[in-house]
Amino acid sequence: LSGPAARRVDELVRLVPDYPQPGVLFRDITPLLADGPAFGDVVDALVQTAGEVDLVAGMEARGFLLAAPVAAALGVGLLPVRKAGKLPAPTASQTYDLEYGSATVEVHAATIPPGARVLVVDDVLATGGTAAATVTLLERCGAQVAGLAFLLELVGLGGRGVLDGRRVDALITVH
Ligand code: PRP
Repeated sequence: LSGPAARRVDELVRLVPDYPQPGVLFRDITPLLADGPAFGDVVDALVQTAGEVDLVAGMEARGFLLAAPVAAALGVGLLPVRKAGKLPAPTASQTYDLEYGSATVEVHAATIPPGARVLVVDDVLATGGTAAATVTLLERCGAQVAGLAFLLELVGLGGRGVLDGRRVDALITVH
């Protein structure tokens, strides 16, 4: 995204200080989602990053909101990457470290055709922990991660660095 469209999208990401805890500046995408033209621009721009892919993976929960329309626009399937314990059928899972504790992402591995080219979509790239765990998980399931596309990259948190060697696109960057 560039020019007025990028500025409009940037304005529609609301900054909420001290949420969900003191000292955190939360970036709330709900005003953006509620604006039809801007939401459409974001989906179109994420689609442009895709190249040839067979599936779009989106991370719970906000990643779903972007990955689903991107998959539909590309005419490919959606793969929900869920937090632990949410999927009913046999899963593959990947645990990763957080600042305090750990988190786990899961998929229904059997829904991934061998060698499927997957675009990973999420709203925010921060530390990269969620995205890196998702890449590892998908590759363990036999997928090829064709690239990762984010609405927003918080550059100072170094997420791109932990995705070394991957194609990473971000529509908006915050320094
Ligand atoms: C947020 C965001 C990304 C992740 C980015 O999700 O939507 O998935 O954190 O952070 P990282 O790069 O440091 O891993 P969150 O875990 O808050 O889940 P939610 O979408 O369900 O609120």
